[in-house]
Amino acid sequence: MPTPSSPRPGSRSLYRDIRARIGDGSYAAGTALPSTRSLAAERGLSRGTVSLVYEQLAADGFIDTRPGAATRVAAGAADRIKAQGCDAAAAEPQRHTPDNSRLSEFAQRVQAMPLRPPAPDATGVIDFVYGPLAGSDFPTLHWIKALRQAESQRGQRLEYAPPLGAPELRQALQNHLHQTRGITCSTEQILVVNGSQHALDLCARLLLNPGDPVVVENPGYRMAHQVFKAYGAQLVCADVDDNGLQTEQLPGLAAHGPPKLAYVTPSHQFPLGGYLPIARRHALLDWAHAQGCWVIEDDYDSDYRYTVRPEPSLLSLDSAGCVIHVGTFSKTLSPQLRLGYMVLPPALAGLFAQAKQLADRHSATGPQRALAQLIADGSYARHVRRMRRKQHARQHALLQALDRHLGTQVHIQGAASGLHLAVWFPALPARQEAQLVEAAALRGVRVYPISPLYLDSGSRPLQRAAAGVVMGYALLDQPEIERGVQCLAQALASLQ
Ligand SMILES: Cc1ncc(COP(=O)(O)O)c(C=O)c1O
Repeated sequence: MPTPSSPRPGSRSLYRDIRARIGDGSYAAGTALPSTRSLAAERGLSRGTVSLVYEQLAADGFIDTRPGAATRVAAGAADRIKAQGCDAAAAEPQRHTPDNSRLSEFAQRVQAMPLRPPAPDATGVIDFVYGPLAGSDFPTLHWIKALRQAESQRGQRLEYAPPLGAPELRQALQNHLHQTRGITCSTEQILVVNGSQHALDLCARLLLNPGDPVVVENPGYRMAHQVFKAYGAQLVCADVDDNGLQTEQLPGLAAHGPPKLAYVTPSHQFPLGGYLPIARRHALLDWAHAQGCWVIEDDYDSDYRYTVRPEPSLLSLDSAGCVIHVGTFSKTLSPQLRLGYMVLPPALAGLFAQAKQLADRHSATGPQRALAQLIADGSYARHVRRMRRKQHARQHALLQALDRHLGTQVHIQGAASGLHLAVWFPALPARQEAQLVEAAALRGVRVYPISPLYLDSGSRPLQRAAAGVVMGYALLDQPEIERGVQCLAQALASLQ
């Protein structure tokens, strides 16, 4: 089997992605892979590039290709990948990476990770992606005005700013968090970061050593799982139900050693959408306190609450000083701003500020001061109210369309809040999830499989038997939602 002389752009990440999915069981033996045509369209690659990747995967024994038949995952491929270890790069064609001996252990772990490539161009596609927001929803005029004002007040000396963040933003956040999340904290506990991901990275760097157990929700947020794994942590999974993390499982997790950290999404479990009830919040805090374990409360989209009353944030219930509250402006303004914040226990604030200073001195001051202005003059709160109404209308349109076109063929989770739904197809086995995604892609609709958000917890097999997808709605208008769901229903019908 000839190998390409040099990998084409995008081929390497596609190879790693497919290999990782076979390795983690998302693509079980016998599963038909997407056609080269639909995968090329989905990834924004040429068909030739996808064909070369398939040829390489076939040469490596991971898939079977036969002319005129679907390309399928080969029997025993997952075992072979596991036997090769998690170093996905080991079997890659034509690596352009340095020798491992010249890299840190951290770098080697990062290199082996199946990180998702940036989303391909979605022109002409109805994309139920979760993550991006619509450009037209950004409050451009308010933002430009606030930014111009912030930049025009530039001082005489262009000094480095405090690592904790611009004082006016921390002041505005202190008031805002008190009003919206019941959080009482000093401005010295607030650290402005470049989005939640930066906060998670700082937590991993400062609180974990390789091998330390970290409790995570299963299914859960991959970008959190991956950053903890990159620092060598051992992920310990707790299952999730309609009410979020099943806290009764926590005492049983001690077998892995005392956990150092627990990462949770209590206001809106990602991806299943549960809302952690007050009794579970107390159970989690009591357990964490008894274990001496830090708890990261990822409050990523709590502004989008439609039918539930807010429970107090974990931080506002924490009397032991073990909760690290993380928030972001990626869901209300734009993920491109890279603006988020942490509310740290007093004992940790100074340390985190020092680490932030070592990493990047401080976040850019102009956008921080513009945001402070929008929060202080009430425009941010008005924008959030407007966005909540808009996103709720989109969600309503999606729920109605799902009901109209799929009815009892779907089971929906997570409609009480947020910017996405978890949609299950009880009559379609999980092994056909990829086929459903492909059949939808062939009809010009992107939906996202839920299986990759599950971790294999070792002792427990994957719990769910049905196919499921994550459907975000923040980018779509109501006619697109209607058409998209119609096509999804046709895609499902084509498999039955
Ligand atoms: C669970 C969860 N946390 C946080 C974020 C936001 O991340 P960031 O602030 O790094 O943009 C997301 C975005 O999709 C998310 O799903």
